[in-house]
Amino acid sequence: MPVSAAALRGLCADEMARNPRGFGSAAWLHEAYLAVPREHFVPDRVWWPAPGEDGRYNLIDRTVRPRAWLKAVYKPGAPLITQLDDGRVPPAGPATGAFTSSISSSGVVVELLRHLAPRPGDRVLEIGTGTGYTTALLAARVGAENVVTVEIDPTLAARATERLAELGVHPLVITGDGEVGHAEGGPYDRIVATASVRRIPPAWLDQLAAGGVLVVPVDSPFAYDLLARLEGDGAGAAAGSFVAQVTFMRVRGQREPVPHTDLGWPAALDPTAWAELTVVAGPMGQRVHPPTPVVP
Ligand SMILES: C[S@@+](CC[C@H](N)C(=O)[O-])C[C@H]1O[C@@H](n2cnc3c(N)ncnc32)[C@H](O)[C@@H]1O
Repeated sequence: MPVSAAALRGLCADEMARNPRGFGSAAWLHEAYLAVPREHFVPDRVWWPAPGEDGRYNLIDRTVRPRAWLKAVYKPGAPLITQLDDGRVPPAGPATGAFTSSISSSGVVVELLRHLAPRPGDRVLEIGTGTGYTTALLAARVGAENVVTVEIDPTLAARATERLAELGVHPLVITGDGEVGHAEGGPYDRIVATASVRRIPPAWLDQLAAGGVLVVPVDSPFAYDLLARLEGDGAGAAAGSFVAQVTFMRVRGQREPVPHTDLGWPAALDPTAWAELTVVAGPMGQRVHPPTPVVP
């Protein structure tokens, strides 16, 4: 019997409602997740993110295996790879290459948006439109007229704009380098990046309203990125902490590795204590601070 997208979406939502990293008390997010058809944003051909035995990523083709494709779309922890090597690898079969765009997994999108906690009417800047799926969830919460989303890849930006419009969702989609943000639309109450950074771009801090929230995956000295949640002071600085371990593709301009000590990280850190670190960023640069030792 064919399984409907809505039924799979409901099952996926149920699983995320049970997960401590899921919707939490954000009822709006649960509702938005059920309302936005994730499958509408997923290309017909995507690569599965874990390599097969031959080291290549398998292609899931909706036109050949519609059921497997739909199940992959609604697997809570699975991102689906929509672009390899900045689009130089055609989605024609199993392939290798660097992941350069994806539809983030349902679980990661929900975690990002739970920490972002946008409120109705908030001005929101998203960096990394990708398929437009996260944009649609944001628009469901704050209103599409309040969302600016920036995608560096023109083909992806055009496709996302089209997919969103087909659902009657019309945010401002900017094709360009999101590291410069979009000053004309700011200041923003919420800024979220769906690609990770080594250094938080100063433009994001400048464009964040006083008391505004920035949620961004940051490269760490550990084997994963850390999701930072910072609050802005309205004058180009922000402070906060790390709220989750995540894995993201890097923004294009920050792919080259940089020693972590040059990025404001302390030299020796206990990886199990990542949640106790604090982070500040602003005109003076970016600094990660270990917890202050408790004096007995
Ligand atoms: C993980 S994907 C975004 C996933 C998206 N949230 C979704 O669910 O479809 C990251 C995106 O960031 C884009 N990107 C990378 N560097 C960028 C930059 N400097 N400015 C804007 N977008 C960038 C990539 O092209 C890619 O589409």
